[in-house]
Amino acid sequence: MPEYQTHEHDVLVIGAGGAGLRAAIEASAAGVSVGIVCKSLLGKAHTVMAEGGIAAALANVDERDNWKVHFADTMRGGQYVNNWRMAELHAKEAPDRVRELEAWGAVFDRTKDGRILQRNFGGHKYARLAHVGDRTGLEMIRTLQDHGIHQGMEVHMECTILTLLKDGDRVVGAFGYERERGRFKIFRAKAVVLATGGIGRAYKITSNSWEGTGDGHSLAYHAGAELIDMEFLQFHPTGMVWPPSVCGILVTEGVRGEGGILLNQDGRRFMFDDIPDLYKAQTADTEEEGWRYCAGDRNARRPAELLTRDHVARCIVREIKAGRGSPHGGVYLDISWIKKKIPNAAEHIKRKLPSMYHQFKQLADIDITREPMEVGPTTHYAMGGIRVDADTQMSRLPGLFAAGECASGINGANRLGGNSLSDLLVFGKRAGEFAAKFARSNKAGRVDPEQIEAAARRALEPFDHGASAGPNAEWPYQIQFDLQEMMQDLVGIVRREDEMVRALDGLHKLSERAKQVAVRGNREYNPGWHTAIDLTNLLTVSEAITRSALERKESRGAHFRDDYPNKDAASGKVNVVVWKAPDGTMQVRREPIPEMRSELKRIIDEMK
Ligand code: FUM
Repeated sequence: MPEYQTHEHDVLVIGAGGAGLRAAIEASAAGVSVGIVCKSLLGKAHTVMAEGGIAAALANVDERDNWKVHFADTMRGGQYVNNWRMAELHAKEAPDRVRELEAWGAVFDRTKDGRILQRNFGGHKYARLAHVGDRTGLEMIRTLQDHGIHQGMEVHMECTILTLLKDGDRVVGAFGYERERGRFKIFRAKAVVLATGGIGRAYKITSNSWEGTGDGHSLAYHAGAELIDMEFLQFHPTGMVWPPSVCGILVTEGVRGEGGILLNQDGRRFMFDDIPDLYKAQTADTEEEGWRYCAGDRNARRPAELLTRDHVARCIVREIKAGRGSPHGGVYLDISWIKKKIPNAAEHIKRKLPSMYHQFKQLADIDITREPMEVGPTTHYAMGGIRVDADTQMSRLPGLFAAGECASGINGANRLGGNSLSDLLVFGKRAGEFAAKFARSNKAGRVDPEQIEAAARRALEPFDHGASAGPNAEWPYQIQFDLQEMMQDLVGIVRREDEMVRALDGLHKLSERAKQVAVRGNREYNPGWHTAIDLTNLLTVSEAITRSALERKESRGAHFRDDYPNKDAASGKVNVVVWKAPDGTMQVRREPIPEMRSELKRIIDEMK
């Protein structure tokens, strides 16, 4: 085997967004050596796209809030297919994680008496989202990064992992390449934490940037871990639809939390047309009551714009399909109307939503204090992912842990806004803690040179194809583009069996093309080569989403089937599990969700 640069750590964390950084901080604090791998530069992570806040029952704005209400809201939002133990741990531990973040330097917005301010978000009963204007995720990454780099961890930037290394069933490291020079690297580790985020780049319209290609999901799956509930993919209702250069970029739910309303072409607030039974009692009867809720009246009920994301996204699609959308294929989101309600509305909007104001002003020449934005659903977040133990975050492979978006369980069929940031703090910490424990009680495993050589050969194949490429060569961007178009069209917000069967056939053809993918040039900073490598991950997660979506023959949360438009009681009691069979094929099975502890059931009943 050629001499590859080798790094040794007790704990290797793959992914440096919020979950990865929090895991690395915890493992370092436990006194083990830690390496953290980032696909791009440290600090550039999808975490920043959770703009509007971190959900935690601090009860600073409404003292009626507590972990039980947060737990019940999360389970209701997830339509009861969540891992209830994760939802319980998350609701109980989120407040401490937020206070800890503050102690590490996060500068939250404040209540008048100096406590962390909290705002309204869809599906949360009380104002629960601790925030920093509309830059909460950014502040969180900044804080974790500042804190983390003083803990002694080694940071490997611009490094992409190609495969997890195994000794028998156990995961003992990873093999990857650095983007700058194209050189391979071996990472030996006693425990590995995956925290690679989401999969949005499998779709054409997404809030995810280029890194969101499902790497952790795919690495874990190919190593032998299980994925669950991959059919549940969140389409955030409000991505920018215009101009095309920013299509998909997120417009925070905080806009609606601050009173923003959704309007169709006729100026109608269409969200009031269809309120799900589950939320009828909590939703305002009149537009006036909805406004009073956003303005802080604790006796008012929330406006229909603050229903859960899955529902809002579907209502928007309904308006567009019915020909009542905006000129560029979206609907209108208007915050400027609050000038009718409060003095100095423009200043208020700029203070509460500074990034939204600048984003629209600079990228679209729209002044949101005066006019509405054009928005539509954008692929935002994967509820499905690597199956982990709720307490330790370990997958079924010894030594392999996962946290944050690439892990699954807490969110069930639909995630409530702001639960992502608290999820990655709570479970990032737990993953780091238990990975460190694992590393302390296990010696380093054996690294298999043949596995490394096979991965290196596979990674370099596109150059061989490029050297002999004829006029019909397969280039990586075209394959990626075709995949994104197909997933958007056939496995998007509204799904049907015949379309998904076509998608499976399409995925098979794309996989065959990907085997022949060709690149030219050299290994230094070659984005074509990187895109060719990402294809394996994108194709793997796309197949997992499609097969799981075919398996779940009902509509629940973010998974809507035109051919099964209702919930099915039996399906509501199962998770859909995906794994790789010994012959290399993807297999799917349903598995009963374990019975919830009786005291948790009681909490849910009481909250109803
Ligand atoms: O709308 C938002 O600010 C996004 C938050 C989230 O995805 O949690």
